[in-house]
Amino acid sequence: MKIGIDKIGFYTPNKYVDMVDLAMARNVDPNKYLKGIGQEKMSVADISQDAVSMAINATKQYLPKIDIDKVGLLIVGTESSVDESKSASLFVKSALKLKASVRTFEIKEACFGLTAAIFTAYDYISTHADKTAIVIGSDIARYGLNTAGEVTQGAGSISLLIKKDPAMLSINPQTSAYSKDINDFWRPTGSATALVDGKYSTQVYLDFFEYTFKNYQKQNHVDISNFKALLYHLPFTKMGLKANNLAIANLAERDAKKLTNEFKNSIELSKQVGNIYTGSLYLGLLSLLVHAELKLNDLIGLFSYGSGAMAEFFTFNIEAGYRNEIIDPYLILNRRKRLTVAEYEKIFTESLQAPIDGQSLVSDEQAGMWYFAGTKNHIRQYCEKSR
Ligand code: CAA
Repeated sequence: MKIGIDKIGFYTPNKYVDMVDLAMARNVDPNKYLKGIGQEKMSVADISQDAVSMAINATKQYLPKIDIDKVGLLIVGTESSVDESKSASLFVKSALKLKASVRTFEIKEACFGLTAAIFTAYDYISTHADKTAIVIGSDIARYGLNTAGEVTQGAGSISLLIKKDPAMLSINPQTSAYSKDINDFWRPTGSATALVDGKYSTQVYLDFFEYTFKNYQKQNHVDISNFKALLYHLPFTKMGLKANNLAIANLAERDAKKLTNEFKNSIELSKQVGNIYTGSLYLGLLSLLVHAELKLNDLIGLFSYGSGAMAEFFTFNIEAGYRNEIIDPYLILNRRKRLTVAEYEKIFTESLQAPIDGQSLVSDEQAGMWYFAGTKNHIRQYCEKSR
């Protein structure tokens, strides 16, 4: 039985900072951010957007096209959790009006969370073929103003519908996993921003990639020339480029060129959004689907990396109907407003604190989008912007 991705929804907040503006404000050569890091814009979440509201907005993109009574599993992968106990997915389930019989929970392993959710959904569908699963990655990447990581922030969500006989991509169950208890990036409880050993994190990412990729090829008798495209977790696009350069190092020119072209197609959206942690790899997948010319059964390799650290290399095959199912991500991107650096700093600082209990938050989002409206008796409130 084929199991895989049938729909993809994407959301990013309605504001961004331009990397040239940020570079000027930080007294840095803009080419460091544009070329050295490989980012052009970075989405900024104000206090009224969080992991829950972004997850709802991403899923709402395809919700009218699916039978919600068939949804049997809903998982939210996030490292920007809004509660230490209650899952983000319960707020999402309520907003989406899913049935009470849905199994739902939150899952965490840094940026690996959505990949963990996808393979959990794969196992679920293999024993519940008449059901579907919604899996979501939703995060706000925050390192802090004037930090080295500042240029690698971002915010957004990717939502996937997993089912049998999928229209877009089928998932292959063979994978190559690797984990090790290390301290490259983490966020202590109570801290709104992440802590990171930046240079070390980039080195272990590459080490984990080399190990899982080689292992996958060896165990599954797959040669790199069999891949139409290789996709990478994209904390910033230069990170993916470094992994891609390792992958193609000993390849014939024709194969190297093919993989490099498809890599370029896969980073178009991330360059405009920044790091969305759990969703980053799948934002790269959406970018490839939008920009590349793909055909039935094309083999796509994916490298998922979550700091701490857990990595896995696995593959999808393109399904015939993928193009008809694409929901144009540029409709979401092009509605964003450009912030001045001063506006971004104010919004960033404000969003680090929880709002005063009882204070209602307003949103400048489009009608129909969901937002975090503040807390009442310390209970989070989510609202749909009225039409
Ligand atoms: N023109 C062109 N390029 C320039 C330049 C200029 N004027 N000035 C500098 N550069 C280049 C540098 O040569 C360097 O390139 P290479 O990496 O190819 O050597 C690049 O710009 C970055 O410059 P620095 O080495 O000086 O790096 P930095 O001190 O500014 O920090 C960083 C970069 C470590 C990535 C930092 O942004 C950071 O800590 N980010 C957060 C951590 C992160 O994303 N890690 C990724 C792996 S962990 C992960 O993947 C999980 C996750 O999502 C967080």
